Amino acid sequence: LSAAADRFPLPPGSVIGILGGGQLGRMLALAAARLGFETAVLDPAPDAPATRVAAHTITAAYTDAEALVRLAAISAVITFEFENVPAAAVDALTGAGAAVAPPGRALAIAQDRLAEKTFLNEAGAPTVAFAPIDAAADLGPALAKLGHPLLLKTRRGGYDGKGQAWIESPAEAEAVWASVGARAAIAEAPADFIRELSIIAARGRDGELAFYPVAENHHEHGVLRRSVAPARISPKVQAQAERIAATVLTALDYVGVIGVELFERDDGRLLVNEFAPRVHNTGHWTLDGCEVDQFEQHIRAVAGWPLGPTQALARVEMTNLLGAEVDQWRVLAAEPGTRLWLYGKAEARPGRKMGHVNRLSPLKG
Ligand SMILES: Nc1ncnc2c1ncn2[C@@H]1O[C@H](COP(=O)(O)OP(=O)(O)O)[C@@H](O)[C@H]1O
Ligand SMILES: [Mg+2]
Repeated sequence: LSAAADRFPLPPGSVIGILGGGQLGRMLALAAARLGFETAVLDPAPDAPATRVAAHTITAAYTDAEALVRLAAISAVITFEFENVPAAAVDALTGAGAAVAPPGRALAIAQDRLAEKTFLNEAGAPTVAFAPIDAAADLGPALAKLGHPLLLKTRRGGYDGKGQAWIESPAEAEAVWASVGARAAIAEAPADFIRELSIIAARGRDGELAFYPVAENHHEHGVLRRSVAPARISPKVQAQAERIAATVLTALDYVGVIGVELFERDDGRLLVNEFAPRVHNTGHWTLDGCEVDQFEQHIRAVAGWPLGPTQALARVEMTNLLGAEVDQWRVLAAEPGTRLWLYGKAEARPGRKMGHVNRLSPLKG
């Protein structure tokens, strides 16, 4: 333990390991490089976006014990950008003597929607009412307790709205459960939100906390389309979001950046939808809207450096470039007040996140 504590703050030149080589890993690697660090990326795909900008790459499955030991051997600290890294991989790294941040517990909780909502409520962060669905026989009691409609979500593996379906009436409950694979699930009451918000926050190794301004988010077909930050909310709502994030970070003894997705209700109350124990798509606006963006903030936190400033220097509208939209790069590159971020993915499959643009405007107005 003291040996681990002695490593921090990591000096420039240290190697930071990253599990997952997608766009989040790529932007983490770029931020790390700017502070003089090197990165080592482990991803099953040889051409993953982060591998193009990292000093070391290991092409292997997350379950490859030998590869994990190799990553542990070259990394001063290991973090992740991919939420579904098997818990066993984190255990293997820790077993090999690696320092892993954020803590494996945060990852394990976030991977299971039932564990996540249970944890949030116990920590004092409000969510919608919910019930576990382990078998068809659980549907009736859930409908009796929560009413309908209900949103059925698989406990594990869902992302971008996948593995979710609405139960509109008791008669269709079993068919809807079958449509998400008749797998362990959670039934949620409707959130009745007026807006979707999120807060990106960070906790350092010394327990220091930092919060970015809340973003307002718009989804299409379950995928994030656009975020606007700072959101046009009252200071009270910002404070409420910060309190929620602080509760979660502290309860997890967290180190790193977290993304907390929130529902804003018409009475001004916030509910937590879910949290991501990593940098988050709704924090991409910070790349051009803040002095220290979420990626550098995460690197600072896991390396044991002081956290950086989080206030907005501009209002930013972030738009994801999905699939063939990326072909507009020439037009976008010529657009004033627009910063273009491309992820270096070869194949523009429909709906795939290929890049994003940040459109800047003055804060006031
Ligand atoms: N309980 C709910 N009531 C109403 N809408 C919801 C609820 N839960 C999720 N949603 C909607 O579905 C979207 C995706 O759900 P989420 O739980 O965030 O899954 P994912 O892991 O796919 O992001 C949310 O951003 C929100 O728009
Ligand atoms: Mg979500």
